[in-house]
Amino acid sequence: PVLTAFDLKTAAEYMSKCSNIVVMAGAGISTSAGIPDFRSPETGLYSQLEKYNLPFPEAVFHLDFFRTNPKPFFLLAKELYPQKFTPTPTHYFLRLLDEKNKLLRIFTQNIDSLERVAGVPTDKIVEAHGTFFTSHCLNCRKEYDLEFVKEIIFKDEIPRCKECDGIIKPDIVFFGEGLPRRFHECINSDFDKADFLIIIGTSLQVAPFNRLQTFVDKDCPRLLINREPVGKSKSPMDAINASGSLLYGTKANRRDVFHQSTCDEGVTELVKLLGWEDDFNKLLES
Ligand code: OAD
Ligand code: ZN
Repeated sequence: PVLTAFDLKTAAEYMSKCSNIVVMAGAGISTSAGIPDFRSPETGLYSQLEKYNLPFPEAVFHLDFFRTNPKPFFLLAKELYPQKFTPTPTHYFLRLLDEKNKLLRIFTQNIDSLERVAGVPTDKIVEAHGTFFTSHCLNCRKEYDLEFVKEIIFKDEIPRCKECDGIIKPDIVFFGEGLPRRFHECINSDFDKADFLIIIGTSLQVAPFNRLQTFVDKDCPRLLINREPVGKSKSPMDAINASGSLLYGTKANRRDVFHQSTCDEGVTELVKLLGWEDDFNKLLES
């Protein structure tokens, strides 16, 4: 159907008939759990790295920099470590999508694993930027588990390989590394199959993730829930950018919605429109 006046309400009506919803998520879905995002001006991690004397903030996640100076990353890792946190309403919304048999997959850039903690089945999650659960020696690739590495990091020491003394790096994806095999295995068929796309809590600044929204069918609705407009120029998602409300209802925008709010407020609104409040509240109370 060609939709005019496409807004959150019509998006919810459309969604109610969908069964292959794909979600693209980023750090913004976890900030209400106390985990900082990366690029927010005052509160984002990249604005708080001055004390580490980095050549540029993202260097902390650059493989070449890490090889010569792993200390800043491990100091930061303590703050980013999972299990210290509880899921947000947005994470429970993702679980609800699955319980309603509507979730095809969630592609998350987050390494906090809160999707799992909230009870989204692991086969529904693609952790595009890896996790802290396993680590490997950069030299000999020997694997280490979370507990081993965590204990060392929390003593403010650098974890080193028992076999070869190489630096041990958690399996989160650094700049200069490929994304996990599972990411590549899932993207083509999932985005082909998607009948609705939700993009939530991400600035869409990092490739290749920030191109995924172009992989869906040209008629597949795309709902962006975020505090601010996102995307790099030339990305079709820019159509939803600052001018979202201008395009809204025009021919050029018969399928894109920008709902500007916090993630938790946005999903709560959506839950209401879908008539899922009781089930949602049960999950939040559980
Ligand atoms: P960013 O920090 O780049 O973007 C987070 C987005 O969420 C921003 O647009 C915020 O305005 C928005 N936001 C924050 N809190 C929100 C809230 N409560 N409600 C609604 N919106 C909110 O984080 P990502 O896009 O996830 O990569 O960053 C992508 C990647 O860049 C990360 O995975 C990380 C980083 O370098 C690696 O570490 C490899
Ligand atoms: Zn080794």
